[in-house]
Amino acid sequence: MATSRPTQFWTLVVLGGAAILVYLFASAPPPLETQRTERPSLSTAEALTLLAYENDVTRTLFTKEIVGNGKPQGLNFRENWMDDDVVAGPLPALFLRGVEAELSKSDVPMHLFLGSDYPIESSNRFSDRQQLEFDAMKADLAPKHFVDSISGEHISMFPDFASAAPCVSCHNDHERSAKSDWKLGDLMGATTWSYPSDSVTTDEFMAMVSAYREGVKVVWSQYLSELEQLAPEQQPEVGEHWPSAGFFIPNHTTLRDSINALSSGALLEGLMDKVTL
Ligand code: HEC
Repeated sequence: MATSRPTQFWTLVVLGGAAILVYLFASAPPPLETQRTERPSLSTAEALTLLAYENDVTRTLFTKEIVGNGKPQGLNFRENWMDDDVVAGPLPALFLRGVEAELSKSDVPMHLFLGSDYPIESSNRFSDRQQLEFDAMKADLAPKHFVDSISGEHISMFPDFASAAPCVSCHNDHERSAKSDWKLGDLMGATTWSYPSDSVTTDEFMAMVSAYREGVKVVWSQYLSELEQLAPEQQPEVGEHWPSAGFFIPNHTTLRDSINALSSGALLEGLMDKVTL
């Protein structure tokens, strides 16, 4: 079944992560640096894997439940949604870019970018090193973790699959798309994260999650203020319901609760894996 590919992917990531942890605790040599007052608790690759899971859940929820179910209700989603004369919601890729805009303003030195080798927006094309890693990803569909030799940043790339029908139809029909035969389940690109150090403390990890969630909150409030500009009779009811139930849009609390329900278990499990008894 085509839609099960992302699920298979995350199952593999979690199993793979467990194998790495077994290796680390069973056979890795002790770290050379033991003088730090705060001991690192997650490798950056592990932390970004958990962030990528949260992002994947958020992105799929937005694409399916808001864009996919909102369009038949008459809601619009546009590339130029932020323009003064346009009243619309963000496309999924621009939702992510809005989150990145907030990350850039935060104190957390984490960045996020959605790249592809067949992009709609040419600035989303991978750089040379990223393209090499993406070629390897096409073969094994596994995340790639490496250090950028120029910036020194730790980079983690995660597969971005066509997980919902609107991904495929919109990209295939887009006039600037570099490819028009995407299919459900295809690997369309990679969510590419960067962070300056090779490991993070629990506090730093919490700050990363908070910065990401703050970004989602800001983009959501920008979207809700777009909706307020519609004529009253064209405004969906903002509250506890979703477009699948009618002319509704969830408020931020409702959105956040759904994201939490989908991702918090995995985040907690990732942290609890670090408790060694
Ligand atoms: C309604 C149209 C629309 C939908 C739905 C949509 N996209 Fe896009 N996507 C775009 C546009 C437009 C861009 C370029 C945005 C930019 O960066 O300016 C883009 C960018 C991207 C990129 C970065 C490379 C590029 O093409 O520029 C990837 C990867 C991507 N989308 C994957 C997906 C996936 C996976 C989904 C479903 C979860 C999805 N898209 C849903 C329109 C769409």
